[in-house]
Amino acid sequence: MTADKGLSLYTNLDLDEADNAAEIQRIYQEWAARYDQDNDEALGTVSQPTMVELFARYAPHPQMTLLDVGCGTGLVGHYLGQAGFTHFDGTDLSDDMLAYAAPRGYRSLFPANLSKGLPVADDAYDGCLCVGVFTHGHVGPEGLAELTRITRFGGLIGFTINEDVLEPYGFDKAIERYVEGGHWRLKCHQISDYMVKKGVKGIYVIAEVIDAAKQGA
Ligand SMILES: C[S@@+](CC[C@H](N)C(=O)[O-])C[C@H]1O[C@@H](n2cnc3c(N)ncnc32)[C@H](O)[C@@H]1O
Repeated sequence: MTADKGLSLYTNLDLDEADNAAEIQRIYQEWAARYDQDNDEALGTVSQPTMVELFARYAPHPQMTLLDVGCGTGLVGHYLGQAGFTHFDGTDLSDDMLAYAAPRGYRSLFPANLSKGLPVADDAYDGCLCVGVFTHGHVGPEGLAELTRITRFGGLIGFTINEDVLEPYGFDKAIERYVEGGHWRLKCHQISDYMVKKGVKGIYVIAEVIDAAKQGA
């Protein structure tokens, strides 16, 4: 294996895979050990600290219960801890990535596939974060329904979208549907730096779940 094989697999991910879980697991198995280093040195990824900083502006209190979906090696958890959050769990498709998240302050970590449904009860969390997952060949807008399902009425969802997939994957239309359909109230919707060394921007969204079906839950 060459040192940059994981990064190279990630960069060249086949976008047309219909059910890509096995391919994603293979990529992150190759990449897990070098992921943090490549994020900094090769990609210049700033999505994790940027999202946590934005999320903290709208979070009612740092003891809120959170699920970090697609937590990977736990970089979001690292920044959540720095920002004073204390009750966060993590989940990811890749056991190899989860192994690195263990020392990063999560209450619990478990494997799950966001595209197939998380083993989490409705309204279980005060909020969730999903950073770096809505990108080439990973998870499409169907993942937004699952984030909404597990977040209680009045809770917050924070997620990023790689700008390259915003329209091609239909995230722009999906966000409109959640807002116009009365499921979310947008707190933040901005485009800013995502992978600085690649010149890629991301859309940072924070939404309050106001789905009427959840009222009183
Ligand atoms: C670019 S990494 C981002 C990791 C972390 N959130 C961060 O910001 O550093 C994408 C992560 O999404 C996970 N992932 C991809 N598809 C997934 C799915 N269907 N369900 C859960 N996690 C998934 C990958 O295993 C990987 O850890």
